[in-house]
Amino acid sequence: AAAQVAMSRLDKAPLPYAKLSQNLEVVKKRLGRDMTLSEKVLYSHLDDPKGQEIERGTSYLRLRPDRVAMQDATAQMAMLQFISSGLPRVAVPSTIHCDHLIEAQIGGVKDLARAKDINKEVYKFLETAGAKYGVGFWKPGSGIIHQIILENYAFPGLLMIGTDSHTPNGGGLGGLCIGVGGADAVDVMADIPWELKCPKVIGVKLTGARRAHVGRMVRLGEGGAEAGAAKSVVSGKLSGWTSPKDIILKVAGILTVKGGTGAIVEYHGPGVDSISCTGMATICNMGAEIGATTSVFPYNARMEAYLKSTGRHDIAAAANASKHLLTPDAKAPYDELIELDLNKLEPHVNGPFTPDLASPISKLGEVAKKADWPLDIKVGLIGSCTNSSYEDMGRCASIVKEALKHGVKSKVPFNVTPGSEQVRATIERDGIAQTLRDFGGTVLANACGPCIGQWDRKDVKKGEKNTIVTSYNRNFTGRNDANPATHCFVTSPELVTALSLAGRLDFNPLTDSLTGADGKQFKLSDPFGDELPAKGFDPGQDTYEHPPADGSKVQVDVSPSSDRLQLLAPFDKWDGKDLSELTILIKVKGKCTTDHISAAGPWLKYRGHLDNISNNMFITATNAENGELNKVRNLKTGEWGPVPATARAYKAAGISWCVIGDENYGEGSSREHAALEPRHLGGRAIIVKSFARIHETNLKKQGMLPLTFADAADYDKIKPDDKISLLGLKDLAPGKPVDCEIKHKDGKTERIKLNHSLNGQQITWFRAGSALNRMKEIAAN
Ligand code: F3S
Repeated sequence: AAAQVAMSRLDKAPLPYAKLSQNLEVVKKRLGRDMTLSEKVLYSHLDDPKGQEIERGTSYLRLRPDRVAMQDATAQMAMLQFISSGLPRVAVPSTIHCDHLIEAQIGGVKDLARAKDINKEVYKFLETAGAKYGVGFWKPGSGIIHQIILENYAFPGLLMIGTDSHTPNGGGLGGLCIGVGGADAVDVMADIPWELKCPKVIGVKLTGARRAHVGRMVRLGEGGAEAGAAKSVVSGKLSGWTSPKDIILKVAGILTVKGGTGAIVEYHGPGVDSISCTGMATICNMGAEIGATTSVFPYNARMEAYLKSTGRHDIAAAANASKHLLTPDAKAPYDELIELDLNKLEPHVNGPFTPDLASPISKLGEVAKKADWPLDIKVGLIGSCTNSSYEDMGRCASIVKEALKHGVKSKVPFNVTPGSEQVRATIERDGIAQTLRDFGGTVLANACGPCIGQWDRKDVKKGEKNTIVTSYNRNFTGRNDANPATHCFVTSPELVTALSLAGRLDFNPLTDSLTGADGKQFKLSDPFGDELPAKGFDPGQDTYEHPPADGSKVQVDVSPSSDRLQLLAPFDKWDGKDLSELTILIKVKGKCTTDHISAAGPWLKYRGHLDNISNNMFITATNAENGELNKVRNLKTGEWGPVPATARAYKAAGISWCVIGDENYGEGSSREHAALEPRHLGGRAIIVKSFARIHETNLKKQGMLPLTFADAADYDKIKPDDKISLLGLKDLAPGKPVDCEIKHKDGKTERIKLNHSLNGQQITWFRAGSALNRMKEIAAN
C-alpha cells in the first residue's frame, strides 16, 4: 500500500518505503550488524546498495536523494547551471523558496510589498525557470524554506539535499536533510548520483522525561511558580522553562562549532518522546552550528501527530508500517555517545559571537558582568526557521498574557518572524499574533529577515556596543545587523520573551521577580502552549505555484542588460591538447578559503550574474610575490593591477592561466562561485599543496584541473613569472600523476610531478569542459 502513497500532497512521486526496505535488506545482510537510524536512511538511498563500499568516515557514498530544496539566494546559480545543462526537466521533485531577500523595515505587509518590487527580476526568473524545468515555486511571503519543508515535504526516512545550511531542520520529522552548495543540487536535479563521505554517527541519548511540551500536561502545573517549584522537588529538577532549544544549546556547548564535522547527530532514548515534532526540528536545525552533516530523530507518535495535523494521514500510516526502517536497532553502534538527562537540563543562552558559548540562565548574569557584555537588551527577536512553530508562539504568548495581566509589556522592540504563511494565519486566527502585538511586538514578513541580516536596524549606530537576544540559530559577528559590536545571544523564544520583558540579560525568570504596573512584585509562571492548534492549521493565502506538466513553452526571461542575472554560456570543451605555457595569475600564500576566492558581503547581490560576481575573484587572497591583497603583475604588460582585471586582460588576449596555492586550498564552504569564477575568466588549472575536498570536487565539475604537488616543497620552485605546462593529458587516468614542466624566465626548465584525484567519470567532465556539458552529451546519445 505504501507504494501508492505520494511523497507529498503537492507532487505525485511515490513514498519510497518499498524500495528503501529492499535496499536496507541488502545492506543489512552485507554489514551483518545492528544499524543506526542514520545508516538505515542513508544506505537505503545508495545508488548501488550491493556494490557500494561502506566504511564510516572513509568511503564516498553515491546516493540518490528523494528531493531537492533551494532558497532564492542560492537557487539563482543552481537554476542557471541547470539551464546550461540543456536538460529539459529536473530528475527529482524540487522546490524553490523565496525567503532570503525580504528586508525587515516596518512590518510584514509593507516589507513584503517592497521586496517584491526590488527583487522583481530575480523572482520572475526563479518562477519561470521553475515552471519550465519542473520545479515547484514558493512565492515571497510563503515562509522560510525549512518550515515549508517540514509542513509539506519532510517525512520519516526522507533523504533530501537543500542549498541552505539549516536544511537539517527536516530531521525533526525523521528525514535526513543535508545542506549543500548549488553545484550538488544541480547534480541531483540532473540525475547524477550525489557523493557524500560516509558520515560517522554521534549518538545523543536523551534520558529522563522533560516536562512534556503538551499544553494539556503542562497546564496541570499551572498555578504559578510556587506550585511549579513544589512539584519540582517531588519529580526531580523539572522546569517548564526548559525547551527543546536548550537541548541543542547544551549539545553545542559540549561539542563546539567543530564537534559534529563529518558526522550525523542521532538523537535517541526515552527522553525523545517528550519533545514535540517541531521541537525536534529546532534541535536538528541548529545542529548545523556544530558542523554536523545533519541531525535526526527516530519516528515516533509526536511525528505521527504532526503528520496528521498537516494533512498527511496516509504518510503516517505508511510510516507506522515501516518502523524497522525509521528507528535505530537495539545495539546501534555510535562512534561517540553523549548522554543528556533532561530532568537536569537548565535553560541556556548561547553567545555572543559564537553559538557554542553556552551559559545556563542561572549563571548568565554573572558571566556577562565578568565578560563586560552589555546587560541592557536593545532588541528581542523571536521566530526564524529555528523557532517559529505554533507551539513556540503559543508558549511566548502565555508569558506575554501574564505580563499584560500585571500591566507590563516588552521593554524593548520585539520582532516576531513567523516561519510560514500557515503559522502566520493560524496564530492570527487564534489571537496569538494580537497578544504579541499587545506586548509591543511587530510581526514581520514570513521570511528570514533579521536572521540573515535583512534588517534595516535604526536604534543603534554602527560600532555601538549593544546586546540583542534572538531565538535564531547563528550569532556570528555582524550577522543580523552588520554591526560588529552587536552582542547577539541565541536562546529559546520563551527566554527571549522573558528577557525582553525585563530588558536585561541578568534576569532569570525561574528565580527573579518583575514589578507590575501596580508596583507589586510578581514571578512569571512556567510557559505553556499547545503543541498543535486545536482547530487545525489555517493555510492562509495560497503562495505555492506548481509547475505545469509540460513547461517546454514557458519563456525564461533573463535580460541581457540585467546586472543581477546572466545566462551561463557552456564552458569550452577540452581541445585534446596539453595545457602548455600557462601564465600564473597569482601564486597565493597562506590561507585561501572560498571567501578569499569569491568574497561574500555586498557581492551576494550578484549571485545570479557570473560575470559581475567574478569581479570579486581572489580580491582577498595574499599574493606570494608582494604579500599584498588584490595586486598582481600582468605578465604581458608588466603593470600591477587587481586580480579580476588582470584575469580579464589575459582572457581577452587568449592567454590561459593557472593559480598556485598553499595548504587546504578552498576550505570553508561549498560555494560554487569559487570554482565558476576562475573558469569563467580563463583559468584552466589550480595547483596547490592540498585541497579542501568539496572545493576540489567543484573545480572538477567546472572542467578545471585541480592538481597537488607530489612533493609539497615544489611549491617553492615556482616563481610568479614562470610558465607552467601540463603534459600527457591525453593519457590522463585515475591515480596517474601528471607531468609538469616549469619554465623559468631565463628559459631554464624543471620537471615535477603533480597528483590528482579525478576518477574515470570526472575525467570525462574535464574532457567535455564541465560536468554539465558531459550530462548534455549523455542525454544527446
Ligand atoms: Fe533563513 Fe535564518 Fe533560517 S537565514 S533559513 S531563517 S537560519
